[in-house]
Amino acid sequence: MKEDRILKDFREVLSLTKRYLRQEKERGLREVAISPKSPEGQAYGAGKVQSPRSKETLEKLRREVEGCRKCPLWRERNNVVFGEGSPNAKLILVGEAPGRNEDLQGKPFVGAAGQLLTKILASIGLKREDVFIGNILKCRPPMNRNPKPEEIKACWGYLDRQLRIIRPKIILAMGTFAAQTLLKTDERIGRLRGEFHPFAKGVKLLATYHPAALLRNPGYKKAVWEDMKLLKKEYKKS
Ligand code: URA
Ligand code: SF4
Repeated sequence: MKEDRILKDFREVLSLTKRYLRQEKERGLREVAISPKSPEGQAYGAGKVQSPRSKETLEKLRREVEGCRKCPLWRERNNVVFGEGSPNAKLILVGEAPGRNEDLQGKPFVGAAGQLLTKILASIGLKREDVFIGNILKCRPPMNRNPKPEEIKACWGYLDRQLRIIRPKIILAMGTFAAQTLLKTDERIGRLRGEFHPFAKGVKLLATYHPAALLRNPGYKKAVWEDMKLLKKEYKKS
């Protein structure tokens, strides 16, 4: 009967909406735009209706992050490394945290790993300016130690807002910390890489080994090359 169909459709819409909201909540969303006034209404992904929060620009956010003291890493930094590249990038690259050179220059991926990254991008026909390059943490951990969970938690909101402003179609998570943080999993990078994961509506995520890991471990080359071929194909489609 027609009414049964309508009821069934309605239930389906409700359950999809619930699932979407639950996922968004897990990703840190606290408000939903039911009127255009809601500040957190900006969704991930291109082609979404712009809410006032989208007027937040990368430059405004950069100034805010430059004064951040939300975790103890601010004490030892020379510079915040906000990230750089195209504000309209279809592809955003996410690394772990600034190293020594990045901290000194205030720019992401400018040391040895960064030079390798620039070459990897060139191998699939991309320039650094075509994409946006950022990190999970915006300040350098002392002696390049691993990020602590509380530092990742304190800093996550900034990457989240960068993603909502840039609205890329594809995220490349480089290394364990980027992949595990963005996908909210403890799964190992070796198992996460090699395929696209749904991230949000219209946004896919590919994980691969970190270029610094590649420098230490040439055995990862083949896997990274496979990942780059996948990335190139998807980038052309998007
Ligand atoms: N490694 C990273 O993860 N990020 C940088 O910006 C540089 C090296
Ligand atoms: Fe703030 Fe992130 Fe730097 Fe910690 S790492 S001080 S949260 S910008």
